[in-house]
Amino acid sequence: MKILEVLKGKISVELLKSVPRSFDLIGHVAVVEVPSELEPYASLLGEAIMEVHKKIETVLAKVGPVAGEHRVREFRLIAGKPETETLHKEHGCLFRLDVGKVYFSPRLSFEHARVAGLVRPGETVLDMFAGVGPFSILIARKVKTAKVYAVDANPEAYRYLYENIRLNKVEDRVIPIRGDIRKVAETKLKNLRFNRIIMNLPEKAYQYLAETCRLAKPEATVHYYCFAGGPEPEDKALNVLQSSLAGLGVRAYDVLNIRLVREVAPRVWQAAIDFKFLGF
Ligand SMILES: C[S@@+](CC[C@H](N)C(=O)[O-])C[C@H]1O[C@@H](n2cnc3c(N)ncnc32)[C@H](O)[C@@H]1O
Repeated sequence: MKILEVLKGKISVELLKSVPRSFDLIGHVAVVEVPSELEPYASLLGEAIMEVHKKIETVLAKVGPVAGEHRVREFRLIAGKPETETLHKEHGCLFRLDVGKVYFSPRLSFEHARVAGLVRPGETVLDMFAGVGPFSILIARKVKTAKVYAVDANPEAYRYLYENIRLNKVEDRVIPIRGDIRKVAETKLKNLRFNRIIMNLPEKAYQYLAETCRLAKPEATVHYYCFAGGPEPEDKALNVLQSSLAGLGVRAYDVLNIRLVREVAPRVWQAAIDFKFLGF
């Protein structure tokens, strides 16, 4: 049975047109965007989702945008039990996380796998904004000889990252570090250099390019993320990266790949740019 069929007769035919066509599923938790006209029927929508998808036990409505330094979103329970800690499976890895306390998006699943698929044996990788570990842990599971340093500033994300490293049995090759990457770069990582650096903080990764260039080995690959809108988002994303690198005096780099990861708002995309850092 479909969600629309469950709701038929319970809300008007006009409102049925506003019923969201999709939702995010994180473990037992469904996260749905409820349009304002459906607000009075949010619980009905949540219950319909649970009726159709029997494994869903909690339905949350997005309340605000992903916000703050820790990139966390506010939610409202619209159906099911008020349990936001869950166990999510992605590419065979397990991630325990609290949807209300840390950043996690199942829409990045392909990107996590794409980057992990590029890692070569023996690489030393820095995951600057690691969250609960979806890049770091998948890399370590796929490439047994890689070593990954996973940094996050959110104490809750760090706590789950630490737990997930153990849950996936990669303690020997993923090193979790709690803290602001800017400080960590000057302390714990000061004497290390990396073959690959992941900068998954699209809101402001460009502000951390100085740390990236300082910690990159010659010919390191950088996975840089940003948000870009307008008719040519790839060009816009590239312009911001190029001017940021020029501002740091970095002229030697090769852009390897630009892709739009996902649409985050109408005509606004998260873009990924892979580039090879060749030196200052
Ligand atoms: C967009 S989330 C990405 C998480 C993860 N890479 C993923 O794919 O799910 C960005 C993460 O960066 C962390 N963060 C933000 N600013 C930071 C900083 N200055 N240093 C370290 N981590 C930071 C946030 O706490 C958040 O967990």
